[in-house]
Amino acid sequence: MEKFIVHGGSPLSGSVNISGSKNASLPILAATLLTRETCVVRRVPDVSDTNYMLQILQNLGAEVERASGTVVIRCEKLRSHEAPYDLVRKMRASVCVMGPLLARHNRADVSLPGGCVIGDRPIDLHLRGLEGLGAEARVEGGNVRLEARYGLEGREIDMSGKHGATVLGTDNVMMAAVLAKGATVITGAACEPEVVDLAEFLISMGAKISGAGTPRIEIEGVAELGGVEHTVIPDRIEAGTFLVAGAMAAKERITVKRVEPRHIESLVDLLRRCGCPVEVGDGSISVGRAENPVGANVTTDPYPGFPTDMQAQMCALFATTPGTSVVRDTIFPQRFMHASEMKRMGADIQVEDGTAVIRGVEQLSAAPVMASDLRASAALVLAALNAKGATEISRVYHIDRGYENIDDKLIQLGAEIERVPA
Ligand code: EPU
Repeated sequence: MEKFIVHGGSPLSGSVNISGSKNASLPILAATLLTRETCVVRRVPDVSDTNYMLQILQNLGAEVERASGTVVIRCEKLRSHEAPYDLVRKMRASVCVMGPLLARHNRADVSLPGGCVIGDRPIDLHLRGLEGLGAEARVEGGNVRLEARYGLEGREIDMSGKHGATVLGTDNVMMAAVLAKGATVITGAACEPEVVDLAEFLISMGAKISGAGTPRIEIEGVAELGGVEHTVIPDRIEAGTFLVAGAMAAKERITVKRVEPRHIESLVDLLRRCGCPVEVGDGSISVGRAENPVGANVTTDPYPGFPTDMQAQMCALFATTPGTSVVRDTIFPQRFMHASEMKRMGADIQVEDGTAVIRGVEQLSAAPVMASDLRASAALVLAALNAKGATEISRVYHIDRGYENIDDKLIQLGAEIERVPA
């Protein structure tokens, strides 16, 4: 195990290149199971979640080669239709092999992902969607076993749940429907850019899909799909995390490059409301600290609303923003593990019913803290950047799940971070 020691107070400057999106890569890698032909996926971030996904694919029979962000996958023959517990428990997103396995093999046995520190994360909507296409689902020995004895058949499928649409659920149904007989209409579909990227990938493989990026996706099943070359979209959450770093600790401005600004409009608007100077260019965004920082009220929402994956990072910014800010997470109301760790650094945060009320303090101070999940750990790094003293953040394997070399990238901007054995 490793930990970070972050020496707070170094001003940030310069620019950083944003990696390809983790959350777009995961379902796209799973979708390579839909063809016997070779798929080339570029800009796959080298993070442990994509590594887990590649292990799962290899386990299922795929041949995988990986070199500097490009992954070449060929799954000529499926060796198994089972994603085992020891891999699935490491990464909840492994559930997105269900759709492709069902489509290609008419069967999928996937271990149930179980609990997760950001809250109860059921897969009932995934199963409802796949059952709608003709699969039977039963839970046995901790696995969900799906079988479509007579093949999958297109239907109208409603994917909306009480917390809104489901991103990976929409992906799963879309991946199953592309090879189903006849037409599928997904209503209540998630509109996230990662869903659109998956749809583009599938369309390049020969799938017939329209409406991705809207709540209604129409799919006409085809008999088979072919190989494809695809470049994954930039990671909007990594970009957002660095923008918040700039808003907290830039000397003048920092610039994030290789981004898609329209994917992070809600964050740019929020940073501007907080008084930060933000300049949006073509594929880049620059940000600086606010001269007169003000807090804000923000509520997470499905895209194009403010992303739950940026909620923790905003808590770090608000922890030292004068006045009172309120952060409400409607998607994962229990996703506030970072709050108690930030309190150990002197933050004034009260969390109740999925809402954090944050009263800005003048400065945070270093303390040993523990990363609990991916975005919470990113938020702790941000908080540590301008805390007084050296903050030790343990369990940084959480951050390595989804940020490619975050320590090196921050060091390049001027931060002082050491990665040491814990
Ligand atoms: N939900 C259900 N039933 C389901 C599925 C979801 O009730 O069958 C609920 C969830 O509990 C939650 C809401 O629906 O309240 C939305 O969850 P969603 O299914 O959209 O989440 P996900 O697809 O499992 C993806 C991202 C998450 C991100 C969420 C929300 C990937 C690999 N993961 O998860 O990313 O927070 O969408 O935008 O794409 C992260 O990167 O740190 C991360 C957790």
